[in-house]
Amino acid sequence: MDSMTFVLFGATGDLAKRKIYPALFNLYMDQSLPAAMSIIGLGRREWNNERLQSHVREAVTAHCKREIDEEKLQSFLEALRYCRLNITNLEDFGRLHDLIKQREEELKLPENRLFYLSVAPKFFEGIAANIKESGLSSTKGWRRLIIEKPFGNDLETARQLNRKLSRSFNEEEIFRIDHYLGKPMIQNLETLEFANPVLQSLWNNQYVSNVQITASETVGVEKRAGYYEHAGAVRDMLQNHMLQMLMMTAMHVPQKISPKDIREVKRKVMDALVPLNASTLKKQVVRGQYTRGEVDGELVAGYTEEDGVSSTSKTDTFVAAKLLIDNDFWRGVPFYLRTGKRLEQKSTRIVIEFKNPLKDLYNNEEESTSPNLLTIEINPNESITLQLNSKSLTRDGKIEPVHINFSAKDKHLPEAYELLIFDALKGDPTFFAHWNEVELSWKWIQPILEAFENDLIPLEYYEAGTMGPKAADQLVNDDGFNWW
Ligand code: BG6
Repeated sequence: MDSMTFVLFGATGDLAKRKIYPALFNLYMDQSLPAAMSIIGLGRREWNNERLQSHVREAVTAHCKREIDEEKLQSFLEALRYCRLNITNLEDFGRLHDLIKQREEELKLPENRLFYLSVAPKFFEGIAANIKESGLSSTKGWRRLIIEKPFGNDLETARQLNRKLSRSFNEEEIFRIDHYLGKPMIQNLETLEFANPVLQSLWNNQYVSNVQITASETVGVEKRAGYYEHAGAVRDMLQNHMLQMLMMTAMHVPQKISPKDIREVKRKVMDALVPLNASTLKKQVVRGQYTRGEVDGELVAGYTEEDGVSSTSKTDTFVAAKLLIDNDFWRGVPFYLRTGKRLEQKSTRIVIEFKNPLKDLYNNEEESTSPNLLTIEINPNESITLQLNSKSLTRDGKIEPVHINFSAKDKHLPEAYELLIFDALKGDPTFFAHWNEVELSWKWIQPILEAFENDLIPLEYYEAGTMGPKAADQLVNDDGFNWW
């Protein structure tokens, strides 16, 4: 891996503390960082190197799940430098440039620079422009930009942001984080689908009856009402994480397995997604909001009673949708997506339900068959389960579902941020959202945003601690299915 400088905007912020420093330290411990690396943290606060180093020490101690080796931690911290910076002030970028060059000389680093924007989205454009203006990105080595979500607020603002960023960085240099793409089981989908002929041959409308993707959460809006009131579940989860999972599930084996080819087959899925119109929107999308209820044995407030939420808010805390993919593989197979806050359980999973053509053959009560199901648990219990029909070996004559299961439950799995930062350091963009994917996602989502804004889809209330509004069950029941 190339030696480099890692420049972190938002070094004093929450994401850096909870995710970025622990990920960097874990990579360091696993000897997965470059041999020589300078890490520069930037923030508005009047901190110095020592203050940053002690902050990172706390972050690593609190959030790393491994035993900390004091000597190693100390040498990791020594690579860190702090630079106070006002991101609207070009002169501050000049000072930053001097520090980067000074460290490059001290550590004999090539001018490879990675800029990580762990800041509020309103600052993205300004920072990218100042990076360019100050000459920071005119390097003799490579330059990369890691950017957090949300990437835009709707189709138009996403396009504007992309236009502005592309004045400073090329598409190949922009690494858009969608942390779902960093989850080990999501990364595993590629292998599962492409490296197993037994699954690959069934991955189509001849054998699959429907696909269900669920991301349910037990938490409510937490302390993020300011953001969430405007975003809702559509912008917060559906446009990015849910559609990324859809692409990763529905893609088909590319010509060769390279980042470019994988992104190309993902784009094809989005291209083939049937757009929603005024009449299909009402039939295929459910908008929900939680009311008071009991989650994990605790009474919790309804959404409109939460701090910072308007008592008349119509923000969606739940969304379910039926999507159709118009290509030869998937024509006629509904993909159902649902996600929501304050649901019964925390679970992210993908269920592939296979057709059950023999069910009429075994049509007496003794011998009814269940559909074959492939369940991929993404989080929190990473596992793969295949449900098959088997004749009971103990009770004569009865057919019963049996489960073949692989579980990584007791394994120590890397965190999403660890895998993603490692890929960005290597320059592998496979598990980052390409602009094509982001743009096509917003394009597909846009009619939903407009319908919600204009109240064209009724807001269905659901009690906290349930699995969402009845209308979401109806969505699949109407096609003869149930949520798994
Ligand atoms: C984030 C959303 O992107 O993903 C949050 O902004 C959500 O609202 C979170 O809670 C869910 O992530 P995970 O990894 O816990 O499933």
